[in-house]
Amino acid sequence: MGEDANHDGQSLSDCTDQDGRIYMDYNATTPLEPEVAEAITEALKEAWGNPSSSYLPGRKAKQIIDRSRASIASMVGARADDIVFVSGGTEANNLVLHTAISHFYQSWGAAKLGRLVGDHQSGKAGLPHIITSNVEHDSVKLTAENLLKEGKADVTFVEASAMTGRVEVEDVLAAIRPNTCLISIMLANNETGVLMPVKELCERVRVLNEQQPSSAILLHTDGAQAIGKVRVDAQDLGVDYLTIVGHKFYGPRIGALYVNGPGTTTPLFPMFFGGGQERNFRPGTENTAMIAGLGKAAELVNLHLHEYETHMRDTRKYLEQQLQAVFGKEKIHFNSHFPGTETLPNTCNVSVLGPGLQGNATAPAGWKVLSKCRKLLASVGAACHSDRGERPSHVLLSCGILPEVATNALRLSVGRATTKRDVDLVVADLREAVCQLEGQGQCPH
Ligand SMILES: Cc1ncc(COP(=O)(O)O)c(C=O)c1O
Repeated sequence: MGEDANHDGQSLSDCTDQDGRIYMDYNATTPLEPEVAEAITEALKEAWGNPSSSYLPGRKAKQIIDRSRASIASMVGARADDIVFVSGGTEANNLVLHTAISHFYQSWGAAKLGRLVGDHQSGKAGLPHIITSNVEHDSVKLTAENLLKEGKADVTFVEASAMTGRVEVEDVLAAIRPNTCLISIMLANNETGVLMPVKELCERVRVLNEQQPSSAILLHTDGAQAIGKVRVDAQDLGVDYLTIVGHKFYGPRIGALYVNGPGTTTPLFPMFFGGGQERNFRPGTENTAMIAGLGKAAELVNLHLHEYETHMRDTRKYLEQQLQAVFGKEKIHFNSHFPGTETLPNTCNVSVLGPGLQGNATAPAGWKVLSKCRKLLASVGAACHSDRGERPSHVLLSCGILPEVATNALRLSVGRATTKRDVDLVVADLREAVCQLEGQGQCPH
C-alpha cells in the first residue's frame, strides 16, 4: 500500500506488485477496488437467480441490477432508464454506429434520400454520413472504416489539431453534410489524455438540429477514459449517447451505454435479438455479478471523485516535475501539453529525447526504454496496439508530434493509489534504462 494512499486504512488497489514492479498503465485498465470485488463475489453467491424469475433468488438479482443502474445513472447525470448494460466499450461504440445507420435508413425517408443524391458532390450521397475523428479508439475507428468499406456509410475522419491536440468544433462543423446522421467524438483521448470540446460541439449542433428536426444529427461521445477521472454529466454535455467502460474506473469488464430516452427521445436499434432483457435493446440473461460490480464502482466514483481527481492530478504533476528535474528540461517533451488544452488528471505522455535511444532498431525507442526498465509497467500507446509496436503512435503523429519525438513516447498513467515514492522509483528506473541505452552503463549518481 502506498505511503499517501488516501483511504482511512482501507486497502486500495495497490499499484506495486510483490516483485516491486510499479504499474503506471491505468489508461489500459485498472484493478478492481476491493469493495467492487466483494460486491461481485456476494452477487455470485447470493443473487444467482435469473433476474427475470419472479421467485426470491430472481427478485434479488433484479434488485441488484436496479440498484446498479441507479448508481451508474447518478454517476453520469442520467435517469436510470437511460442506462443499457452491454459487454463493454467496444460493444457500446458499435451499438451507437449501428443505430445511426439503421435510424438513417428507417427514418430519414426515401424522398429525402432522393433529394440528397442530387445535393451532394462526393458520389456517396444517399448513404448515411458519419463524422468522427482520426484519434478515436479502434472500436469507433475500425467500425467506421468497416462501414465505409462495405459501402454502408460515408465517413469523415476529422483531424485533430496540431496546435491544440483536440478535435476542433469548427472542423467538425465544416464536415457536416445534408446526410450527416451521427457525430462521434471521444471525451478524452486514451493516449494523450486530451479533453475534447464535446459540450461546445453539442451546443452548436443542437442549434442546427432545431432548424432541421427531421434529419437531426445524433451526438455520441466515448467516455471510457474520462469517467472516474473527471466529472462527466451526459445531460450537461448534451450528448445523445455516452459510452461507459467499467474496467477504466476500477470496475469489472462490462460496460453500459447512456442513451437519452432510449427508443423514445433517442433511437436505439439492437444488434442482438433474444429474450427481451434490457427492454430488448440488449437481450441476453443479465450478468448480475458484473453488473453489481459496475454499480459498486460507480458508487465509489459518486462518493470520491473529487478525492480521486485531486490525488491523480497532484501525482501526475509531481511525475512531470521529477522527469524534468532528473533528465533536464531539454531532454523531456510532454506530448499532451498544448497551450490552452485541458487533459485528464492522470495521463502523462512523455518522450525522453535523444537519437542515442533510437539507434537503428525497428522498434520505437519508447519500447526499448520500457523493455530495459526493471520496475515500471507502462505502455507506449493504446494497450490494444501493444503487439504492433513497430511504428510511433498515429495518435501522436495526428496531434502534430514530430516522428522523431513520437517514436520515443511513453504513456504513463497514474491511478488512485500511485504514490510519490512510486513516482521517484519509476523516474530512477527510467533514468537507468536511458543511461544503458545511451551506452553510459550505470548512471552517474
Ligand atoms: C477510449 C476507449 N474507448 C473504448 C475502449 C474499449 O473498451 P472495452 O475494452 O471495454 O471494449 C477503450 C479501452 O481501451 C478506450 O480506451
